[in-house]
Amino acid sequence: MTDKKCEQILEKYHKDKGSVISILQDIQESFGYIPEDAVFWFAERLNIPASSFFGAATFYAQFYLKPRGKNIITACCGTACHVKGSAPIINRVREDLKIPHGETTSSDGKFTVESVACVGACSIAPVFIGNKKVFGKMTMEKASEMIKELDKVKGV
Ligand code: FES
Repeated sequence: MTDKKCEQILEKYHKDKGSVISILQDIQESFGYIPEDAVFWFAERLNIPASSFFGAATFYAQFYLKPRGKNIITACCGTACHVKGSAPIINRVREDLKIPHGETTSSDGKFTVESVACVGACSIAPVFIGNKKVFGKMTMEKASEMIKELDKVKGV
């Protein structure tokens, strides 16, 4: 862990006592996720129980306790997408990216695949979002192309 990054954040909260949420936001912005040792580092220095940080970090979906991939694929698992066959495509994408069972990020750190409920574009189901770009009417073939396209732009 980079203590320097934490010290820069701490500097801000010595002057202006921030909430646990805003400290977590700063940690995540700095590290890309919430490292466990950073939480203990701040808990000790700010005299805030680590459980308060972990409680907030696990409650709010905006926080990530594990490193995320360079490319983020969001797969819609809402009803319309499910009915149009999203599940087997998601499984194929996970297999192609060799994402270990129970994980969301590939071991090479290139891709994170997350599932969400309806993204509000049911008319083009099944829907995937790759690095904020919407890929509608997804098929197995289009999923492979999406992976290639994302990897080309932001490969590691
Ligand atoms: S269910 Fe997937 S976009 Fe609505």
